[in-house]
Amino acid sequence: MILLRLLILLYTFGLVQGLVGDNLLPLNPFLGILEVGEKTADQPGPTIGKMEKRGYYTSLLDASAISATLRPDSYAMYQFPINTSSDTISNYQAIVFISGNICELPDGWNDTDSNGLSIYYTFNQTQWQNLDYKSMSSFDFYEGYAQELAHAQLTDADTNALTLYLTVVSESCADCLSDNTWTYEVGISQSNLVFQWHNESVASVVDTDSTSLIVWIDQGNASSSSSSSNNGSMTDLYNFFIYDPEDFVFVAGLARSWCAMKQGASIEYNSSSAVVSSVYRGGTWKQQFYFDSLTPNTTYTGYMLENFGDSNGGLVFEPFQFRTMESDECTLIYDLDFCSEVTYSVPTLPDMNNVSELAEYYDSNAKHFYTNFSYALQQIPCDTEMDARFSVVKTCDDCAASYKKWLCSITIPRCSTRNITGYQLYESGHSRLDKLNVESEIRPRSDYYEVLPCIDMCNAIVRDCPGDFSFRCPQGNDSIALSYYWETGGEYPSCNTVGVSSSSS
Ligand SMILES: *[C@@H]1O[C@H](CO)[C@@H](O)[C@H](O)[C@H]1NC(C)=O
Ligand SMILES: *[C@@H]1O[C@H](CO)[C@@H](O)[C@H](O)[C@H]1NC(C)=O
Ligand SMILES: *[C@@H]1O[C@H](CO)[C@@H](O)[C@H](O)[C@H]1NC(C)=O
Ligand SMILES: *[C@@H]1O[C@H](CO)[C@@H](O)[C@H](O)[C@H]1NC(C)=O
Ligand SMILES: *[C@@H]1O[C@H](CO)[C@@H](O)[C@H](O)[C@H]1NC(C)=O
Ligand SMILES: *[C@@H]1O[C@H](CO)[C@@H](O)[C@H](O)[C@H]1NC(C)=O
Ligand SMILES: *[C@@H]1O[C@H](CO)[C@@H](O)[C@H](O)[C@H]1NC(C)=O
Ligand SMILES: *[C@@H]1O[C@H](CO)[C@@H](O)[C@H](O)[C@H]1NC(C)=O
Ligand SMILES: *[C@@H]1O[C@H](CO)[C@@H](O)[C@H](O)[C@H]1NC(C)=O
Ligand SMILES: *[C@@H]1O[C@H](CO)[C@@H](O)[C@H](O)[C@H]1NC(C)=O
Ligand SMILES: *[C@@H]1O[C@H](CO)[C@@H](O)[C@H](O)[C@H]1NC(C)=O
Ligand SMILES: *[C@@H]1O[C@H](CO)[C@@H](O)[C@H](O)[C@H]1NC(C)=O
Repeated sequence: MILLRLLILLYTFGLVQGLVGDNLLPLNPFLGILEVGEKTADQPGPTIGKMEKRGYYTSLLDASAISATLRPDSYAMYQFPINTSSDTISNYQAIVFISGNICELPDGWNDTDSNGLSIYYTFNQTQWQNLDYKSMSSFDFYEGYAQELAHAQLTDADTNALTLYLTVVSESCADCLSDNTWTYEVGISQSNLVFQWHNESVASVVDTDSTSLIVWIDQGNASSSSSSSNNGSMTDLYNFFIYDPEDFVFVAGLARSWCAMKQGASIEYNSSSAVVSSVYRGGTWKQQFYFDSLTPNTTYTGYMLENFGDSNGGLVFEPFQFRTMESDECTLIYDLDFCSEVTYSVPTLPDMNNVSELAEYYDSNAKHFYTNFSYALQQIPCDTEMDARFSVVKTCDDCAASYKKWLCSITIPRCSTRNITGYQLYESGHSRLDKLNVESEIRPRSDYYEVLPCIDMCNAIVRDCPGDFSFRCPQGNDSIALSYYWETGGEYPSCNTVGVSSSSS
């Protein structure tokens, strides 16, 4: 049966179109009824000229997508039989979710504001067959994406046979050659949009060095389907596509298209090519992606796509941008044992074999300094009766957490290759630890800028810790700026808050 269908399909196509691989996924039965018609003057969309009636699909299986090509001044007709016993029908109203994306524009199409493709639909077969566009509803593709909810009012008469009729129409294209086509996908479903686009970027850039990048996704927000797990198990849901500026040209005008995004990227990252883990940072669970092999001093555009499991569809999120650092003076470290919230670039040290060794080195150094503090904290009455505690609102755990965060930021300098207001230049072999009058083997390989710790982290220990410690922080901008800085906004963080991604601050 399947073989027979395939034969019909190939035959019809071979006969009339003379094109191979021109069309659709194998799932959908196709009847290749072909006509050529003259378009009349009152029809919108294509200008007057030859119209190809490319045949129609007898059905679009629920939630699966078809893929097809269309020439300029052409149309393709589809029908979708509505399942009137579906659970989604209520009060005699059927809602059909229509969505589509453009995978490729015709080579000759040079208008990036309009995609030149529209979808017309109706529940009235006569209107559809007569190409009565004026009576049909319509919506356009924009940035390679189109979506619509079609509402059908059911009457007793047609509850048994209601069909959505749909026509995809292309405009004329002055600069197109005869073999230039649109490649598009359309998905129709009674339960959800097969293709989706979200006007928000759930991926936040944490930091970069010259060749690597870390991105977080807040797990509660990534999507409804992924909020249940804090594990690495959901990683196959996501693909990241990283575009360098040159490749980005290929998808101009298609920024919301799921299938276009997957085609033109310089680099694709998925669960097998990125280091993926689930981490608890800044008080929430995050899915963490570590990407490497990037080019230094380059501005990239990153797209995160979510795949909808078995069906063909998926979700495109608003892209994010980042720029890799100029050189390898800084190295991005992550997943430290003790300073677990540290996820940023640090000064590169000589004689380190790899990133984990470097991270381990900084981490054990910080831990070393923490020891004396933890002894001291044990002398404070923490778990005694309420009235013996140092504070009614703050516990020793709060104090320990604030102190640790501060200590990590002091002993693990955040590194940048950029000269930004507030950053402090250190020469090779030196770091802020020189000032602390402590013995330190932190001897950075090259000159670098330090992103100074945010003053808030110092104020937090004064607030959270017992007065016995006599912690104090500098007051006034001038004295603060000697060893800390504060948030000023802007593209790059002006100070370092441990455990916070740069793009969300
Ligand atoms: C229509 O929907 C009902 C309820 O979801 C389902 O049981 C039935 O199989 C569907 N019919 C078709 C032809 O898909
Ligand atoms: C493409 O650009 C040419 C001029 O270079 C213009 O005449 C033509 O209308 C443009 N085509 C589209 C589809 O915008
Ligand atoms: C379908 O559309 C045609 C033409 O617009 C109209 O004459 C006819 O009454 C419509 N049929 C239904 C069932 O609405
Ligand atoms: C996203 O939505 C916000 C608010 O509705 C709007 O201001 C912004 O321009 C939108 N962004 C894009 C890229 O459409
Ligand atoms: C994430 O969810 C929290 C509450 O669950 C909400 O306050 C926050 O605005 C959401 N963030 C985004 C980016 O949607
Ligand atoms: C994480 O995965 C492990 C085993 O793969 C499982 O036992 C655990 O319940 C999962 N945790 C969550 C929060 O899903
Ligand atoms: C993962 O990405 C590589 C390219 O980096 C690609 O070849 C491979 O097909 C992808 N795997 C999946 C499951 O998408
Ligand atoms: C990095 O790029 C900027 C701007 O493109 C350029 O001015 C600078 O010289 C580049 N730095 C290096 C080290 O190539
Ligand atoms: C890093 O280098 C050390 C020392 O050569 C080695 O033992 C360790 O396995 C390396 N780690 C990774 C992740 O390559
Ligand atoms: C810890 O305290 C001891 C005794 O006061 C001191 O000798 C040692 O240097 C301190 N260690 C650190 C890392 O500050
Ligand atoms: C960094 O920028 C500041 C202000 O823009 C400037 O005064 C300073 O000379 C710059 N430092 C370097 C090393 O270029
Ligand atoms: C200190 O810096 C903040 C933030 O940049 C600014 O609002 C404030 O006016 C400054 N105070 C003084 C005394 O310069």
